[in-house]
Amino acid sequence: MEIGLLDMAKPLLNWYRENHRTLPWRTDPEPYYVWVSEIMLQQTRVEAVIPYFQKFIKKYATIAALAKAEEETLLKLWQGLGYYNRVKNMQKAARILTEHYGGVLPQEEDEIKKLPGIGDYTAGAILSIAYKKPVPAVDGNVLRVFSRLLAIEEDVREKAIKESISSSIRELLLSFKKEEQEGENPCGDLNQAWMELGATVCLPNGMPKCDLCPLSFCCKALKENRQGELPVKKSKKERPIEEKTVFLFLSEGKVAIQKRAEKGLLAGLWEFPNKEGYLDIACLQDTLREFDLRLQGDSILELGETKHIFTHREWHMKGFLLKVDRFSKKDGFLWVTKQELRERYSVPSAFQYFLNLLFQTGLS
Ligand code: ADE
Ligand code: SF4
Repeated sequence: MEIGLLDMAKPLLNWYRENHRTLPWRTDPEPYYVWVSEIMLQQTRVEAVIPYFQKFIKKYATIAALAKAEEETLLKLWQGLGYYNRVKNMQKAARILTEHYGGVLPQEEDEIKKLPGIGDYTAGAILSIAYKKPVPAVDGNVLRVFSRLLAIEEDVREKAIKESISSSIRELLLSFKKEEQEGENPCGDLNQAWMELGATVCLPNGMPKCDLCPLSFCCKALKENRQGELPVKKSKKERPIEEKTVFLFLSEGKVAIQKRAEKGLLAGLWEFPNKEGYLDIACLQDTLREFDLRLQGDSILELGETKHIFTHREWHMKGFLLKVDRFSKKDGFLWVTKQELRERYSVPSAFQYFLNLLFQTGLS
């Protein structure tokens, strides 16, 4: 007889209850905390998220506080996590919640999914972990575990496969919900159990620790010794490469930054001035003239090359550090000290290489 999902879910749930990591948002699964942590966890590993989570909750203790947050400070707190639209959407949602929902996250699936930035996964995570509802929360970890357990040959990221896994989990949750005991949360625990297994045991890149797995008794991939081949992935499209030249203009102890456009990639964040393409030293004079800046002596320093990989593109960057005098003050840049840059302005990690170089120079 085939082993059903229900036979797997019970040992998994027991394993989770004994082995899960103690995390701040698990100790006190208040809906707002679960929401913040799940948004952060969509882009970063648990260990890296913890300090961000704690600082965030300290600064914005409630949904109402998040709604009122000043954008610059909010983005600064997010620096290093990436995908800044996620925190902008959280603030939009917080404002809607404060205005129309009494500052509380709704408990209905349809309602909560109307909020900006809350899709199937986040809705499922909040509703199950914080409100004990039988709603699935299927992330990449869960898909990987399923692809191995059931030896799924298709690409699990495809919508139809994902939906079928999701509806199997929903059925499981409904049956566990019926047996819920006082003080327990089988739905939240089971959703997190799949994720936890994926994050700590059934690891990606052909590295699962099957000897520690509570589901090894029924895992099809293990039985067929195919853990290394699953999940099957369709090859991804190549990302287009954009070349850029980045300028660290220094003048009177300050460095020039500019705000990115309010729409598009890294919208509204701060960056160093830059130009499309790789400019060579000979072309720099044109750039200086364009901004009405005058080079001090011949103080140009080549900063080498770096690249940053986004989901849909790559930036390959070359940089120059130039000490300049300003004449017309019409360059349109914001000139800030190193300390101001560190404490106030949110520069995306695409520019980390240049930030590091800047902080290593004697600029004060
Ligand atoms: N990854 C994202 N959310 C998670 C959670 N609640 N538990 C474990 N891993 C996760
Ligand atoms: Fe993953 Fe191995 Fe467990 Fe199968 S037995 S679910 S491959 S860790």
